[in-house]
Amino acid sequence: MSNKTILLTGASSGIGREFSHYLANLGFDLILASRNLDELNKLKSSISNKNISIHTQALDVTDSKSINQVVNFIDENLGSVDVLINNAGITIENFILDMTLSDFDRIFSTNVRGPWLIANGIAKQMINKKKEGKIINISSILAENVIPKQSLYSMTKSALLQMTKSMALEWARYNINVNAISPGFIITNMNKEFFDTINGIKMYSRWPNKRVGNPDMLLTTLNYLLDNKSKYVTGAVLTVDDGQSLKRI
Ligand SMILES: NC(=O)c1ccc[n+]([C@@H]2O[C@H](COP(=O)([O-])OP(=O)(O)OC[C@H]3O[C@@H](n4cnc5c(N)ncnc54)[C@H](OP(=O)(O)O)[C@@H]3O)[C@@H](O)[C@H]2O)c1
Repeated sequence: MSNKTILLTGASSGIGREFSHYLANLGFDLILASRNLDELNKLKSSISNKNISIHTQALDVTDSKSINQVVNFIDENLGSVDVLINNAGITIENFILDMTLSDFDRIFSTNVRGPWLIANGIAKQMINKKKEGKIINISSILAENVIPKQSLYSMTKSALLQMTKSMALEWARYNINVNAISPGFIITNMNKEFFDTINGIKMYSRWPNKRVGNPDMLLTTLNYLLDNKSKYVTGAVLTVDDGQSLKRI
């Protein structure tokens, strides 16, 4: 993995944090991005592999200027990255009748518009540098399933899947593979309070293995998509959910 660089969004917490340690141990150079630069710098110091290069970048994916700054940083310092992982994302929990226009705009600009803009900027660099690139979008099993109070989240994650397939189709000729991972429920800041509630416990009690996942359960799939041996895989959606979506979520 030496001399390969990954741009990882949403690195400061949860799944992104776990990915950061894992990718560092594999020997990738990293650009870790999210809004909380202090947290990213703390993460950087906690990474044990000191033989790789790690840059931290403040990035707000809802802000096109902030995205341009990161893309320009890559242009000026590296030319391009080898891999983009679009991981930053939020949920807003509410019934449809109680959602506001500002909720709609905030979640779509974080989960869809941001990843679309970043992927476009990064793909242009990969194409200019004639790199065999990889883009991995973190969707969710809620892209293809629905539960109450997660309508906007489900809608954004479905959009991300269609974005994945469209980009895979158009960019195959440039040797850019675009795939999505659709995780099931994984304990992170996004949901840890919910899974302590009665409704949370009732929810995971219905699943085949009656448990919520941990971020490390996604690492084998991430590794597979990064491996050159999976070059033939593009436009794919890899569901990693412990069978959660086999029964009513
Ligand atoms: N946890 C699950 O059960 C689950 C299941 C399926 C899919 N996912 C997806 O996995 C991804 C990671 O989620 P997580 O569970 O690890 O949640 P998390 O712990 O809340 O992490 C979310 C990450 O996104 C970043 N982020 C949020 N808004 C941002 C913005 N405007 N600009 C840049 N970065 C932003 C946050 O960093 P800052 O606050 O520093 O900006 C943080 O690093 C998300 O796309 C989520 O939808 C999660």
